[in-house]
Amino acid sequence: MKNTNWYKDAVIYQIYPRSFCDSNNDGFGDIKGIISKLDYLKDLGVNCVWLSPVYCSPQEDNGYDISDYYNIYSRFGTMEDFDVMLEEMHKRGIRLVMDLVVNHTSAEHEWFKQAISDKNSKYRDYYIFKEGKKNGKKPPNNWTGFFGGSTWERVDNSSEYYLHLFAKGQPDLNWENPKVREEVKNIMKFWFDKGVDGFRCDVITLISKKQDFKSRFPTLALCGKDAFVNGPRLHEYLQELNNNVISKYDVMTVGETIFCSIDDAKKLVNPDRHELTMIFNFDHTDTDNHMGVKYLKKKFKVKNLKKVIKKWQLGLRGCGWNSLFIENHDQRRSVGRFGTCEEYRKEGAKMLATLYFFLQGTPFIYEGQEIGMTNAHFKSIDEIVDIEAHNMYKMAKSNKLLGLLIKDSIFDVSRDNARTPMQWDDTKYGGFSTAKPWLMVNENYKSINTKESVKDLDSIYHYYQKLIKFRIGNEIIKNGTYEEILPHNKNVFAYRRSYKGKDLFVICSFAKKNQKVKGLVKYCKGNLVVSNYKDNLPNVLKPYECRVYSN
Ligand code: NOJ
Repeated sequence: MKNTNWYKDAVIYQIYPRSFCDSNNDGFGDIKGIISKLDYLKDLGVNCVWLSPVYCSPQEDNGYDISDYYNIYSRFGTMEDFDVMLEEMHKRGIRLVMDLVVNHTSAEHEWFKQAISDKNSKYRDYYIFKEGKKNGKKPPNNWTGFFGGSTWERVDNSSEYYLHLFAKGQPDLNWENPKVREEVKNIMKFWFDKGVDGFRCDVITLISKKQDFKSRFPTLALCGKDAFVNGPRLHEYLQELNNNVISKYDVMTVGETIFCSIDDAKKLVNPDRHELTMIFNFDHTDTDNHMGVKYLKKKFKVKNLKKVIKKWQLGLRGCGWNSLFIENHDQRRSVGRFGTCEEYRKEGAKMLATLYFFLQGTPFIYEGQEIGMTNAHFKSIDEIVDIEAHNMYKMAKSNKLLGLLIKDSIFDVSRDNARTPMQWDDTKYGGFSTAKPWLMVNENYKSINTKESVKDLDSIYHYYQKLIKFRIGNEIIKNGTYEEILPHNKNVFAYRRSYKGKDLFVICSFAKKNQKVKGLVKYCKGNLVVSNYKDNLPNVLKPYECRVYSN
């Protein structure tokens, strides 16, 4: 099958299905709800959707714990609904990328049920069981997981434990077992044969583990990560999936990669190596925390953002493709983040949109980002559903030091900030549902909603619409070089993209006040493509002002 590289001209919209649109008014989003909003997406201009998991799942981690890869979770609908959704998307020129969660299954998956109830089951070796220490009283080693605490759960009435890098309801699959890899290939084939256009591969760089399973030097978080991040057989496994399945279809893959250097990335996305199409790296979302731990907040500085953007734009140039994003279902909202504030919500949201939309790579927009939805400002843990936040809250309560370090940030950085229901209009529950939703609706839904945004020609929505139209098929954005301009300015992030004698100058201010910018006029040449202000001054940028010129 010829690969058309369609992803280079894609703008991808992420749907978090339980929060998107509820068609049967049970307070929980569903596939029919998605179908009802496809014209909205078409009007926005996106040409691809990444759909977070809709498979059968006990929903311990909102669907990232899958109990059946071949069926749809009943609250989301049926396989018939799915087929209609896919057809309706394709009719509108919108492709569909599904989530592939295969580092772990749910503990409710049939494989795991058999593995745990019968030591001699053929499924035992689908997972990672190890003998505990001290006759089973202690876990096999001191590794700690992504949701905090030990990565090991003891099997009832036995001295054995199973590995889970996330919740205990998410046992890790044993990729050393070739049968597991065959199962994964079959899952991929099943969905590709249905016409699905790609996969976002959940925590894909965790699938290979060092086989010593020894304790590591204790660390504050993720003890043992050298054993389970970027493991020894990672590239071999990905090449196997690619050669046997992915390469047979005109599809794309985007891998979620944690702690990924440019050198790691080059191995993953260099087309000659036949692994993944692109990856999500998190260097930019880590610019406001210490050591990649989001709970340890740090003051944001524009220079750090400049540094990581430059690193990735230059680092993968000519040898791989970037993904571009500022929000997803695991990150808090970008309004009020990356140096912006709610007071200048519209200006800041448009500025951030501009900053990342003109870079090389494929941009992703997370649901609600296009109307500038904001963080929830939770007041109590009872308002939060997310298992990660609850685990951290418990740990912070039981451990004084940890409590001191993270107590102020748990609500602020909680993933539920991004998961509040989509705000469609100003009716009760924001038009998401007529029943009380599974998670509270942000109280600002009366003023921030899609109905209002579509009406207001100056809205963030219309700005995104313009950016999307401008960038699809634009050769400078797709192929141009990247060069930082005004590199020493502390408040202004500006860059130039050049291709075949043509340039784009992208200028973004991160300051809350007017900024006199020395040398600005030099770059304000040609046509003004977009700006978040109607009038622009020659040497001054207004709060969060952005402009793009093309010559
Ligand atoms: C990454 C997903 O984005 C996140 O939501 C999930 O909790 C973990 N992987 C585990 O699957």
